[in-house]
Amino acid sequence: MHVPSFIERKRNGHALTEEDIAAFIAGFTEGSIPDYQASAWAMAVFFRGMTPAETRFLTRAMLRSGQTLAYPADTPPKVDKHSTGGIGDKVSLVLAPLLACDTLWVPMISGRGLGITGGTLDKLESIPGFNTALSPEQTLRQLEKLGVVMIGQSAEICPADKKLYALRDVTGTVPSQALIVASIMSKKLAENLNRLVLDVKFGSGAFMPTRAEAESLAAALEQVGREMGVQTCHRITPMNEPLGHSAGNALEVAEAVATLQGGGPADLVTLTLDLAESVSDVPRSQLAAWLNDGTAWRKFVALVEAQQGNARVLESILSVHPAPIVEEFTASDSGILARMDAGCFGRACIALGAGRAKAADQVDAAVGFSQIRKVGQAVHRGDCLFRIHARTEAQRDEAIAILRDAVEIAPASGGAPARTEARET
Ligand code: URA
Repeated sequence: MHVPSFIERKRNGHALTEEDIAAFIAGFTEGSIPDYQASAWAMAVFFRGMTPAETRFLTRAMLRSGQTLAYPADTPPKVDKHSTGGIGDKVSLVLAPLLACDTLWVPMISGRGLGITGGTLDKLESIPGFNTALSPEQTLRQLEKLGVVMIGQSAEICPADKKLYALRDVTGTVPSQALIVASIMSKKLAENLNRLVLDVKFGSGAFMPTRAEAESLAAALEQVGREMGVQTCHRITPMNEPLGHSAGNALEVAEAVATLQGGGPADLVTLTLDLAESVSDVPRSQLAAWLNDGTAWRKFVALVEAQQGNARVLESILSVHPAPIVEEFTASDSGILARMDAGCFGRACIALGAGRAKAADQVDAAVGFSQIRKVGQAVHRGDCLFRIHARTEAQRDEAIAILRDAVEIAPASGGAPARTEARET
């Protein structure tokens, strides 16, 4: 195929054929089509979009770039969830072991940080030794033993998404409906699932700013799932403030550990149970009991050990990754917290080094935010609004400059909200 013409066709708003999309994805995956052409093509898709048929062709081509997990007969139903991405979204770390407390199998394939959102793989890899690169054979052996596995795209499973995902992360081409659908569904279809729940987020910290755009994305994701024979459902959830009280890789593992031990923040627990119950065979009350009685926690410890992670440090993960600078930021007014902008926290996390600016960058596991207060809470002048965990003073200052517009405190009596500048103490 003549790749420049293929890119130009999309740039000029024309639909691409299944044959050309398949050849392009195959060439990109094997390395004969370079990153610069794939980046240009992704940007053309971002601006021009894709028809439902093209989206289906792209999903299928990405799925076929690798193997699909195969299971012996008479094994339990396979279930999973996938989020379209948010700030502080550590649901997968809690939900995967929780669902596996039942007899279900959870063969979760996740991604790294994408754009301003954190990634499950980066969070898991803050656990020393944790191996997210299992072969399909190792994946099956672990499912037989534990009922849950958490891995990433690899040379064998979804290699096209592995490459394209990393490229989109650093080329401004993430928030394209067609690219998101193909990325998510190629991974989920490779898992060969019976049931899938999708957490489709909208708001300042999501790739879809409005509920209407999230609904359109959900419909496109569900359509591909249904066409490929997976029982697929979704929830549309807001992402205007960070989920839970923390954002950052090790910081989110610490919050997931607390949640698995029955002490998680209410919004994280509620969302996890909402999503889990829609693919589980047991009632919500049983799922909640497993979170509170240590069953889900023990499953997570077993999962970490099975994937060569050091489970002994899980409860002290922040001392494995100490941030040299930890500072409190306090309210400059009293009132009701009206806004803690998730998009600003996401961009600030990237400035701190929790995500990537170039494909080869290493993420910093130690940095991010903790003790983030929730919208709707009453705060007093001088109260801590969040703690920043930074590696360098320059990164701290850049993050704080981004967060300058993130916080609003409304007068308790109900007047107009005042922008407040977080004050360092
Ligand atoms: N999650 C993915 O796996 N891919 C996307 O494109 C967005 C969220």
